[in-house]
Amino acid sequence: MSTAEKTFSKGLEGVIAAQTEMSFINGTEGILEYVGIAIGDLASKSSFEETVFLLWNKRLPTKPELEQFTADLRSHYTLCDEMVTQIKSCPIKAEPMHVIRSMISMCAMYDENPNENSVEAARHKSMRILAVAPAIVAAFDRHRRGLEIVKADPSLNFASNFLYMLNGEKPTDAMVRAFDICMITHADHGLNNSTFAARVVISTLSDLYSAMTAAIGSLRGPLHGGANEGVMKMLNKIDSVETAEAHVMGMIKNKERIMGFGHRVYKAKDPRASELMTLAKQLAEDTGNMDLYNKSHAIEKIMEREYASKGIYPNVDFYSATTYHCIGLKLDLFTPMFVLARIAGWAGHVIEQLEDNRLFRPTTDYIGPHNAPYTPIEKR
Ligand code: CMC
Repeated sequence: MSTAEKTFSKGLEGVIAAQTEMSFINGTEGILEYVGIAIGDLASKSSFEETVFLLWNKRLPTKPELEQFTADLRSHYTLCDEMVTQIKSCPIKAEPMHVIRSMISMCAMYDENPNENSVEAARHKSMRILAVAPAIVAAFDRHRRGLEIVKADPSLNFASNFLYMLNGEKPTDAMVRAFDICMITHADHGLNNSTFAARVVISTLSDLYSAMTAAIGSLRGPLHGGANEGVMKMLNKIDSVETAEAHVMGMIKNKERIMGFGHRVYKAKDPRASELMTLAKQLAEDTGNMDLYNKSHAIEKIMEREYASKGIYPNVDFYSATTYHCIGLKLDLFTPMFVLARIAGWAGHVIEQLEDNRLFRPTTDYIGPHNAPYTPIEKR
């Protein structure tokens, strides 16, 4: 047996390709911890800013440390004029995911030392990208709606500032807290595809912007972060709870994938889905969207009956669709919300990679012919 045969794992399933101190996942029992703290505790007790500090420093901050961290983040909220001009030059029909990917890439051109890869520089650049990404999404959305771009308000927290820049008015405390919980639950998740992409790129000692750009490109795929849009599209096609059964069974019969279900690691209910289910229900009640929540819940029950035996349960994207809808976000902003949160995780992993780098360079198992003759073109 060749070495390749011994080690080949399609999709790298089960392969340990990096060490991390950030998130721990037990897929059989449905456990997710950030630096040892259960995701449920962070969702109910922490803030996104504190969670990012935790992920980047591997410990909770003291009060002054959190104040300093928050002040640093807020000092980078505002987009420079050149970036605003670039955003305004984007076609209004562009997908927000293409815009955020391109603009994060473009940030490199407004950094005097974009290629500096010390851990300290990576931390600083990460803080700036994390701070400015919401402004990019909000500015593009307002630009395409023909509205004035709203400048960041450094007196607001991350969640509140984003919703303010998007809608032009201060959000309610309930909306801010809901959005904050979404950010916490999406912040990091082991060596998922986009995080792996970021680590692969930075392992060449390229630059943080390239790593983030690659990660955003990965995240938008429907098997990864793009699934939250897929969930909403499915919900929109289902008229009522009563028709959910026929619709979902039809999809199963046609061997279609049900977006928001299944996971490479979890073979139990994704704990983030449990957190978001509670949140979605509360928000749906508050915003008059119980029909949407009830449809989601009905689909979960059908899927449990049909697929639980295969270890297919709701993942993070399933109830985030209802949650984002209730927050008032447009469908094509759902996946960009995943980006805003996951920048924290990508950055933390890039820093971990830089701290102990080794170039990623797996091998292939060549399964083509050998000693093949070269046939001249006129004889083929
Ligand atoms: N609906 C129907 N069947 C499914 C689903 C689903 N959502 N997910 C997996 N299966 C079936 C699949 O058809 C296959 O069946 P069989 O063995 O009969 O051919 C079996 O389960 C294994 O599927 P797989 O694609 O080999 O498994 P995987 O480990 O690569 O799956 C997944 C992970 C996320 C790609 C998959 O579950 C899926 O496509 N889910 C829908 C998309 C989705 O919700 N993605 C978001 C993932 S969570 C957020 C994130 O971190 O990205």
